[in-house]
Parts: sequence; C-alpha cells; structure tokens
Amino acid sequence: MPSLVKVGVAGTGSYLPPRRLTNQELEKMVDTSDEWIRERTGIRERRIVDEGVVTSDLAVEASRQALAAASVSAEDVDFIIVATSTPDNIFPATACHVQHKIGATRAATIDISAACTGFIYGVAMGAQFIATGTYRNVLVIGAECLSKITDYTDRTTCILFGDGAGAVLLQADAPHGHVLSTFLRGDGSGGEVMQVPGGGSRIPASIESVQNRMHFMRIRGREVFKFAVMKMVELIEDGLRSNGISREELGLIIPHQVNMRIIELALKKLDIPPDQAYTNIDRYGNTSAASIPIALDEAVRENRLVSGKAIVCVAFGAGLTWGSLVMRW
Ligand code: UT7
Repeated sequence: MPSLVKVGVAGTGSYLPPRRLTNQELEKMVDTSDEWIRERTGIRERRIVDEGVVTSDLAVEASRQALAAASVSAEDVDFIIVATSTPDNIFPATACHVQHKIGATRAATIDISAACTGFIYGVAMGAQFIATGTYRNVLVIGAECLSKITDYTDRTTCILFGDGAGAVLLQADAPHGHVLSTFLRGDGSGGEVMQVPGGGSRIPASIESVQNRMHFMRIRGREVFKFAVMKMVELIEDGLRSNGISREELGLIIPHQVNMRIIELALKKLDIPPDQAYTNIDRYGNTSAASIPIALDEAVRENRLVSGKAIVCVAFGAGLTWGSLVMRW
C-alpha cells in the first residue's frame, strides 16, 4: 500500500462475555471428551453470551476501551468498520448499531463479511481511507456471537467456537503500530467448505430450513485444517519477505486462533519458536473475526509488543478468504 500518511494503531480494546462454556459442559451435550478437544484443538473453554446479548453489545464494549486507550472521543470517529459473520440483523449493518450506541454521530458505517479474515480486511480498508487523507480516526472492530449459529448437537463444530469482540482505533500519524502492509485474497470456488447455508437469498428462512438446521455453521474441518496450515506458512513468509523483515526484527506473530495444532504445525514448518506467536485459543476458542483483535489487545496489555519490532497478523477463513497485516510497533 503506497502510504501518503503514516497509519498507526492509537488504541486497542476487547471484550469477552463472562459466561464460560467448558469442555466438561460440552461432554454432557455431545459425544466428546475434554481430552479429545484439548488434544485436537488446544481449547479448554470458550465464552458464550447470555440470552438477549447481541454482537453490537460486544463490539461497543471493545470500542469504548479502544477509544479510551487512544484518548479519542466517539464524536471524533470518522468511520466505523465492523467485521462479523453474526450481525445483529441482515440489515441495517451492525456498524450502525455500534455508531448509535457509542454516540459516534459523525461516523460513516459499514460491515464486512469476510469471515475469519474480516478484521484484516477491515484494517486494510480503514488504512486506505487514512492514507489518502480522507479520514483521521477509523474504528475497526471484529465482533462475533458465534454461539447463535453453532449447532450444539454437532460435535464436529460446537467444540470450536466462542463469542467476543476486539477493536482498534486506526489513526493518522499514531505513535506506534504503523501499518507496513496489508495483503488480501479470496477464492470463491471453496465457498462450500465453510458456510451457513440458510438465511440468505439462496435458502430464505422457512419451517423446512429451520427443521433441516440450515441456519447453523457447516464446516469440512479436515479440508480447512490443510488449507489453514498452508496459508499460515505462506502468509507469514510473504509478509516478512515483502517488507524486508529479518527474523531478528520479528516481534510477535498474531495468528487467527483457529486450532493450536494448526498454529504449531505452521510455526514448525517456518522454524519459528512457539512462544513467538500469541495464543489465547485455550481460553476463548475460535472467535472468527474477533480472534486477532482480541489477541492484539491482550498482547498490548501484557506488554508483549516491543517498540520497533514487527508484528505479523495472519488470518484465513470462509469464502475462502485469507490475508495478512504487518505492522511495526
Ligand atoms: O476458522 C475456520 C473454522 N475452523 C475450522 O474449520 C477448524 C479447522 N479444523 C480443525 O480444527 C480440525 O479439523 C477439527 C478439530 C475440526 C477436527 O480435528 P481432526 O484431527 O481433523 O479430526 P477429524 O475430523 O479427522 O476426525 C477424527 C475423528 C473422527 O472419527 P472417525 O471417523 O475417525 O471415527 C470424528 O468423527 O474424531 C471424530 N470427532 C470427534 N470425536 C470426539 C470429530 N469431532 C469430535 C469430537 N469429539 N468433538
């Protein structure tokens, strides 16, 4: 991205609903075991919203934190981008609900549907508006209530997902977190590998669609596994090479929290030590578009990001979509 104005991260925030859904509880719901889930995914528990809580509620909490960290008031936000696969409604956009709830009265609003890669797409878009001088403060949020589209009778998917939100305030000339590059790709031929079949114009909601469980996620996990390892390796290698970043300059990798085995396998192929990647999948499971901004916020708050070092965020998901964000902290 040829940057005219330096784009950086002025503040981060995240929010996880308090209710924990443990592997032991899932053992009582489907034919699975804590041992199987931990060994195959690295997940111990995930967070689930209470009834009545919606995606914009989580997004609002994360956004307020990001704005507070940046010392920016809601009225000064120019653009709100929400990446989500679980919007409050089909329309209006969840970003509109967030805009109203936080009082960002001047902000433009849009949702992005790029599944687990959505946050990277959001940062890429927001950074463009800042780099061209159109906007100064862009709030990019990844927020999901995946529990609402999870089939808790399907052991192959229900163990994987959790709810949560993360947010960053991108700002012109922010002191750190400078965006060095964003890379985005998609391949619609793989659309059926991960999808919610019902609820759109192809299979509108009907008694049959509900009876056939068409409004829940369906995932061909084994195919995703191979794709995810391959893409994670490619994205990290390309992100480092294209920005001329040496291994010594690499600070932290923040991967989409998809599966601990996928992350470990990719790092092994790259000969990168496991502790150079930030992971919280054991506590939150896969929160799709929210996973990278939640991890980024936790890494900031735990002082894991070293000034001057490179941060590489990589994601892949339904679409198929994949992408990377490389920053210098
Ligand atoms: O962000 C993108 C969305 N994320 C994903 O799509 C996840 C990516 N994929 C994965 O994380 C892994 O493929 C899974 C965790 C979903 C599955 O792990 P796996 O090592 O690929 O297992 P598998 O699908 O090859 O299944 C192995 C066995 C099967 O039994 P058989 O056919 O060998 O008898 C499954 O039926 O494990 C069985 N199985 C389970 N057993 C206990 C599948 N789910 C469970 C379960 N508990 N929850």
